[in-house]
Amino acid sequence: MKEHQNASQGTPRDQENPAGFPPATGKTEASHETAEKPHGLSRRQFLGLAGLGALTFGLGGASGFALGRQAGDNIASDVLQTSYPFRGKHQQGILTPAQQQMHTAAFDLTTDSRDTLIELLRDWTLAAERMTQGEPVANHATNLEAAPRDTGETIGAGPAALTISFGVGRSLFLTDEGVDRFGLAGKLPQVLEQGIPRMAAEKLDPQRGGGDLIIQACSEDPMVNLHALHNLTRIAFGRATMRWTQLGYGRTSSTSSTQRTPRNLFGFKDGTSNIKAEDSPGELNTHLWIQPEDDQGSWAAGGTYMCTRKIKMMMEVWDELSLGEQQRIVGRDKFHGAPLSGGEEFSAPDFSAQANGKPVIDPTSHVALMHPTNNSGKRMLRRGYNYLEGVDYLGRLEAGLFFIAFVRDPAVNFIPVLSRMSDDLLTEYLQHIASGMYLILPGVGEGDTYVGETLLA
Ligand code: HEM
Repeated sequence: MKEHQNASQGTPRDQENPAGFPPATGKTEASHETAEKPHGLSRRQFLGLAGLGALTFGLGGASGFALGRQAGDNIASDVLQTSYPFRGKHQQGILTPAQQQMHTAAFDLTTDSRDTLIELLRDWTLAAERMTQGEPVANHATNLEAAPRDTGETIGAGPAALTISFGVGRSLFLTDEGVDRFGLAGKLPQVLEQGIPRMAAEKLDPQRGGGDLIIQACSEDPMVNLHALHNLTRIAFGRATMRWTQLGYGRTSSTSSTQRTPRNLFGFKDGTSNIKAEDSPGELNTHLWIQPEDDQGSWAAGGTYMCTRKIKMMMEVWDELSLGEQQRIVGRDKFHGAPLSGGEEFSAPDFSAQANGKPVIDPTSHVALMHPTNNSGKRMLRRGYNYLEGVDYLGRLEAGLFFIAFVRDPAVNFIPVLSRMSDDLLTEYLQHIASGMYLILPGVGEGDTYVGETLLA
């Protein structure tokens, strides 16, 4: 397995260890020189994004959206000026260094016309390209007699590293009733038709999964995400309606070796062992990007599958477990994220290591069951977010992980791994409440007029 090392960000150990936790054994961080740089940032500023993550997470965690906005007001303005290229072989928002804020929504079409669908995708593409570059969806209005075309809540704000990614669900190709509304049934990939089968510890709400189309907006400012979804929903009026939406704050993964590993709501580092932008093209083609020879045909090449699981985390129960038990369940040390077999955060776990005649890493720990060496080498790109949606009737937090994995083939890279969670010690503290699978379309090429052109043209 490829090992990733922390970027040298000047302060990692001190800032991460304010309470003076014991040091992990072995070597410390080394720098990485290969990270993708966004527009408008020096390398030093780019590396500083990780610090911003900590700030926004802390404030957003206290009271969600409103405070998240305040954090946005206080952070370095050049972060809010960051933008990523919209066009390319692959869509943005997948390998882009994971931003702190996410707003995802699925849509159902209210039209059966293929031309109207294309028109919608054209309008969405135009608006998305502008917004990701910090522009309003249309030039600012001066006509006092007409409603402005841009809703205006980000006037004066920067692009804030906004990425917008578009995907399609099974029902776009074939409805539940077997109707082929857009003449696309012949292009329906088998894995999308089958979806994610029933799993252990799930109580799914079908209204919070599915949908003809999906849009994922990620940025460093929740207001920028909201503006994007607000305007894309408005543009869709009369053609598509929002089916479900999900806010996420505080990334739970790193998708670049230059990023500091964030933590999930159980307090563990999450995203240590992940596909990252610096992986070789061969590795990315094997595990992440759909290839021309894959089952759905070449129209989807350059795309990827997005698998989502909304997972409620029983934090009140988890919080009372001893530190040793929490670490046994995960398979990693809580403070540094090192595998229990020793070393540093990015050391490879040694599943054969024994102490007192027992494996040091419990074979039913989360890491043991998920690790590629125990899954025929299969990898996924995790890009999930924490969520918090108030409290239940007993005053327990309605909070957890909006898990997202991008993979070349869910039947190979995702479903078999997910099904192993039925034996996972972690599962006792989780409930899966929504599930979804979407095909993220190939990137918008320089000459293309809309996302999804290879599917519909
Ligand atoms: C709320 C639910 C979950 C929590 C709290 C959680 C937490 C964690 C933690 C703490 C790690 C170790 C750090 C790391 O390597 O990133 C990890 C690793 C991992 N998790 Fe999860 N996870 C959850 C759900 C899932 C799901 C649904 C999947 C997909 C099947 C998954 C797949 C993985 C994988 C592939 C790894 C990397 C294992 C390795 O290579 O060592 N996790 N997770």
